[in-house]
Amino acid sequence: MHNSSIRELCLGPYSQDQIDDWVSALNPHGYVKVMETLEFILAVEKEIVGLSILDPGKAELTALYVSPRHVGQGIGTMLVAEVEALSGEADIHALHLSSTLNAVGFYERTGFVRQYDSSYTLPCGTVLPCVRMMKRL
Ligand SMILES: CC(C)(COP(=O)(O)OP(=O)(O)OC[C@H]1O[C@@H](n2cnc3c(N)ncnc32)[C@H](O)[C@@H]1OP(=O)(O)O)[C@@H](O)C(=O)NCCC(=O)NCCS
Repeated sequence: MHNSSIRELCLGPYSQDQIDDWVSALNPHGYVKVMETLEFILAVEKEIVGLSILDPGKAELTALYVSPRHVGQGIGTMLVAEVEALSGEADIHALHLSSTLNAVGFYERTGFVRQYDSSYTLPCGTVLPCVRMMKRL
């Protein structure tokens, strides 16, 4: 799901080479580490249709991906609401994220505001341009 969300929904603002490097960085051990150390939220409808990750220590939403076959059904909005609810429990008053270029409009609809252009560097060195955003809770 994560793989296809990147491949099918992020191509355009990012090149095929960038997408290939991005997907190559995913591995099963990464999810186990996230589950052990961060808040890992799954949206499930018989199968996994979305995921999001909150890093409470950094007050940061570090991942949000919806299955390409399930976009436009409110799943992304629901996952953001779950992350905000967990943030409230963790006494977080402002949530931060680095948005992919394709998702900026989505985050603006959910109340985040742009701060500045930024980038994310993959382990292989490939740089993905992003937009730093935040929302006061
Ligand atoms: C961005 C993403 C999470 C949105 O998920 P979704 O489940 O389709 O979102 P929703 O159905 O909750 O959409 C909520 C609203 O945002 C709008 N919207 C959704 N994606 C949008 C986008 N890329 N740009 C602008 N608006 C968008 C919807 O039209 C909807 O508007 P409405 O309330 O007027 O109908 C999903 O497209 C995705 O997984 N993209 C690829 C991965 C990615 O880039 N994630 C962000 C990493 S930082």
